[in-house]
Amino acid sequence: MSRRTPTVDLSTVIGSVRLPNPVCTASGTAGHGDELARHLDPSALGAVVVKSLHAEPWPGNPAPRVHATPAGMINSVGLQGPGVAAWLEHDLPPLLATGARVVASIWGRTVDEFARAADLLAGAPSGVVAVEVNASCPNLEDRRNLFAHSATATGEVVDAAAAAGRPRWAKLSPNTPELPDIAAAAAAAGAEAVTVANTLLGMVIDVEARRPLLGAGRGGLSGPAIRPVAVRAVFDTHEAHPALPIIGVGGIAAAEDVVQFLLAGASAVQVGTATFADPAAPAKVLADLGRWCDRYGVRSVSELVGAAHDREVSG
Ligand SMILES: Cc1cc2nc3c(=O)[nH]c(=O)nc-3n(C[C@H](O)[C@H](O)[C@H](O)COP(=O)(O)O)c2cc1C
Repeated sequence: MSRRTPTVDLSTVIGSVRLPNPVCTASGTAGHGDELARHLDPSALGAVVVKSLHAEPWPGNPAPRVHATPAGMINSVGLQGPGVAAWLEHDLPPLLATGARVVASIWGRTVDEFARAADLLAGAPSGVVAVEVNASCPNLEDRRNLFAHSATATGEVVDAAAAAGRPRWAKLSPNTPELPDIAAAAAAAGAEAVTVANTLLGMVIDVEARRPLLGAGRGGLSGPAIRPVAVRAVFDTHEAHPALPIIGVGGIAAAEDVVQFLLAGASAVQVGTATFADPAAPAKVLADLGRWCDRYGVRSVSELVGAAHDREVSG
């Protein structure tokens, strides 16, 4: 019995980076190195985005760090990591050996800490195809605010990350109505793309203890519960900046979810929380996307990007 070969062109372009397909991992949900390689072929994905790295080793937050929520989870892992130098030495080589295109995510508590992390990445091998600047983390110089809640601070950390000498993607927060302005500030500072978006700020209370359940109190909500919020955030960003490449993320677990993000204006997507339920989820979503496009006569995923804007209805 002959089986029809899908003819869809899945390749996508994010600024100066060409990816063979639009399905990537989301930072913090696929480890720092080749952890997923036992479950899927990392080189088959668009790119592997590793967990955000600080310039120095970082211990993260007290336990408990994760908790199941309706249609998702809440976490306060607190950006635990080995630091950029140890990552370059120990985690990156086995990941690159899989043939994966690697995106290094960096974070800092100050603009200078972003600059130091980026500086340490300058000598990374060419398999590190981009740097994702996690602007959606707390800014010590502006207490209780995230960098990504300020256009100025977002521009500063994107600018500081230029030291890495790699294309920069700015990871933004959905917790601000000013997202399109902040995306513009990231682009003006040199970001080739914006990743939309990080988790929604949340909290769960332990009613018996009468205290917040997570060790850090507040956390980030992720999974299918936030998908409509993330799709809206991508739609608004694309509407305001049609030429700015967007990587969409939030609650993706199936091909149809990817298609929603592409139609809203994303050129690529990341799969996060779904990976905790099934470590092969990004590969399965990718395979399903090829079948979905084939079924609906889509020849190139690029024809889906932003297509929901053509028939926008008001009211
Ligand atoms: C346990 C956990 C850890 C995360 N760590 C990071 C991180 O280190 N850096 C980052 O930019 N985003 C981090 N995120 C956010 C994800 O990359 C993603 O933006 C968010 O979870 C929404 O996608 P999802 O619903 O598919 O998980 C983390 C999410 C989870 C659930």
